[in-house]
Amino acid sequence: MAANEKNSGGIVNWFDTRFPVTDLLERHLSKYPAPTNLNFWYLFGFLMIVVLAMQILTGLWLMMNYTNTAEEAFSSVEYIMRDVEYGWLLRYMHAAGASAFFALIYLHMFRGMMYGSYRKPRELIWVGGWVTYVLLCAEGFTGYVLPWGQMSFWAAQVIISLLGSIPIIGEDLATWIRGDYLISGITLSRLFAFHVVLLPIMIIAVVFFHILALHEIGSNNPDGIDIKKHVDKDGVPLDSKPFYPYDITHDIYALGVFLLIFCSVVFFFPEGGGYVLEYVNFEPANPLSTPAHIVPSWYFTPFYAMLRAVDFSLFGFTAKFLGFVTMAAGIAIFAALPWLDRSPVKSIRYKGILSKAFLAGFVVSFFVLGYLGAVPPSDLKNLLAKVFTVVYFSYFLLMPIYTRLEKCKPVPERAPGH
Ligand code: HEM
Repeated sequence: MAANEKNSGGIVNWFDTRFPVTDLLERHLSKYPAPTNLNFWYLFGFLMIVVLAMQILTGLWLMMNYTNTAEEAFSSVEYIMRDVEYGWLLRYMHAAGASAFFALIYLHMFRGMMYGSYRKPRELIWVGGWVTYVLLCAEGFTGYVLPWGQMSFWAAQVIISLLGSIPIIGEDLATWIRGDYLISGITLSRLFAFHVVLLPIMIIAVVFFHILALHEIGSNNPDGIDIKKHVDKDGVPLDSKPFYPYDITHDIYALGVFLLIFCSVVFFFPEGGGYVLEYVNFEPANPLSTPAHIVPSWYFTPFYAMLRAVDFSLFGFTAKFLGFVTMAAGIAIFAALPWLDRSPVKSIRYKGILSKAFLAGFVVSFFVLGYLGAVPPSDLKNLLAKVFTVVYFSYFLLMPIYTRLEKCKPVPERAPGH
């Protein structure tokens, strides 16, 4: 018997001696000290893990009947919808799951912005999360191409041609990504490979890191107080409760509500008014006929509006390239938040009026840009898109200034109502 093996028998003990699984589960799940003041905004991380698992399972089953060639992709999706048993359910779940994932990730990111969850010592948790967001964008885009409908084809055309606008290397880069001089079956099969193998593996790996890092450092909370400052004799924060059974109960309740909404969409409203499944994508891809109005999925429309807002060239750079840079910057800038915020406090609850006004400006601009990116452009709409692109970026770029200028409220030592 090994020196560290406990005398009592049992399979759990056998494992614990060789791999301390009980300790691991206690630290990361059952006994994880969750702050007592967590609220509604802390439910979305858990829900995203459920949606991630659902996407992987439904995706796996869809793959069993999907064909990744330009000739057969569209009809294989029709086959799944009409002939495969419960194929319609798998596809509707997978499509609604993609929209749900983005809705949840935006809420989750917004929570971090409100409560300063990106601040020291959680910068890596934030940046890791941001990487999952970028990977999810790539996953969403590649998945959108797979049914090989009109929108699939033209979305791929628009996005990959943006790379072509990069000076000097652009055209070669676009050809390399397409694997052809035009979007073709070769492009489809490589995007398929990314969608089903490379990106999911990367997403799972980064989510794993994200949660591990969070559990090593500990959760922030809506007041942005450091609960580790006041601990009991065992080192457990006084303003915390074990994840099981207290926090998990909230998460399971939230899952019930989420599933109610999700199933309502899947069973009664599967196309989501053209936002979950776009109507133009019910036509097979036709390289000879450009749809009158090409729009990306709703979760990309704020960034698409930024792309279209830049309709002028500057310093010899084309409008298309500058639009592409603006759009990419709109996504990239989230990663810089930990270093832009210079406020002495974390949570918006104790920040001054300027932080509140700029955060509100950010939210309004995100929704307005989201709307503008989804509708056909006009002169007025282009002007509005320019204005709101400026409002959007000013939240980030002016943050080092306004967070230092404003007067903050004192932060309590302990969680309110402890
Ligand atoms: C697949 C995507 C993601 C999953 C599955 C995920 C999962 C989680 C979970 C389970 C938690 C703990 C519970 C909670 O606070 O809700 C969490 C916390 C956190 N996440 Fe994510 N997350 C994802 C994406 C992101 C993104 C895109 C960001 C930001 C850009 C982010 C930033 C954070 C931060 C800062 C925390 C700590 C919050 C705090 O303690 O106040 N996460 N995440």
